[in-house]
Amino acid sequence: MAGRLEGWNAIVSGGAAGAGGAASSLFAREGAHVAVVDIQVEAGQQRAAEIEAQGGKAFFVKCDVSKADEVEAAVATIKDRFDGRIDTLYNHAGTVIVKPFLDTTEAEWDWMMSVNVKSMFLMTRAVLPVMLARGQGTIVNTSSISAVAGTPKEVLYCTSKGACHMFTRAIAIEYRDEGIRCNAVCPGFIRTDHGLRELKELRELGVDVTEDDIIKLQGRICEPEEVAQAALFLASPESSFVNGETLFVDNGMLVGT
Ligand SMILES: NC(=O)c1ccc[n+]([C@@H]2O[C@H](COP(=O)([O-])OP(=O)(O)OC[C@H]3O[C@@H](n4cnc5c(N)ncnc54)[C@H](O)[C@@H]3O)[C@@H](O)[C@H]2O)c1
Repeated sequence: MAGRLEGWNAIVSGGAAGAGGAASSLFAREGAHVAVVDIQVEAGQQRAAEIEAQGGKAFFVKCDVSKADEVEAAVATIKDRFDGRIDTLYNHAGTVIVKPFLDTTEAEWDWMMSVNVKSMFLMTRAVLPVMLARGQGTIVNTSSISAVAGTPKEVLYCTSKGACHMFTRAIAIEYRDEGIRCNAVCPGFIRTDHGLRELKELRELGVDVTEDDIIKLQGRICEPEEVAQAALFLASPESSFVNGETLFVDNGMLVGT
């Protein structure tokens, strides 16, 4: 049976580990040739090697997606490897700063916005012309429940994710009639390095995110594969009439609060 992304060329930023890593593997299992883009060299190479060992197609490209020159070089390499065709861009790379607002610095603000927001701008700006040349392409961005639900000690992070929401919607509406769809996945707390560190740091600062709180909020912690499955749906033709949407992957957390 053909996979849900059979014959597609897909880029996954932050594709070495966590939910991005799960997406790299899942997209490849569904038939995509995957460019794993990440700053972590060893984990990125390992992810691509594992995919290939399981019969899939993948390669690793080292890139800090918050840096314009690195993004331009990485996308040029990928375009070459993909013979000039890119079907899907999954902008997943991102990070979190947990700190009381008044302790945060201008450098941290700039860094947060660069890694979480400017990265989407740079990657999308580099990839979109390749998609537009064929009149088709899907873009998926990782936003968060934090785009709409404020968490204490995460002002910079919440602000950056609010921008990811609007970046998604604005791209969708500008390029809808040129064959491009752009949607976002918005997870609750995920069992990844990012998610587990975030929970630990929030607890250390006295924010109510004990295991009991997580159970009350979202039933249990989200697994990386569950985010990857939502991204797969938005990347694939199965979501052909879904555009500019923000899909919450939080087991009802938002609707229950
Ligand atoms: N973990 C959560 O609870 C949670 C919840 C909601 C949203 N998110 C979002 O998910 C993303 C984080 O992913 P995760 O939870 O899978 O975490 P993770 O830390 O396990 O994975 C993030 C991946 O992104 C890569 N990365 C980070 N900065 C990069 C950069 N500048 N250039 C290239 N690669 C970079 C890392 O090396 C890593 O492989 C972020 O966008 C975050 O906002 C996470």
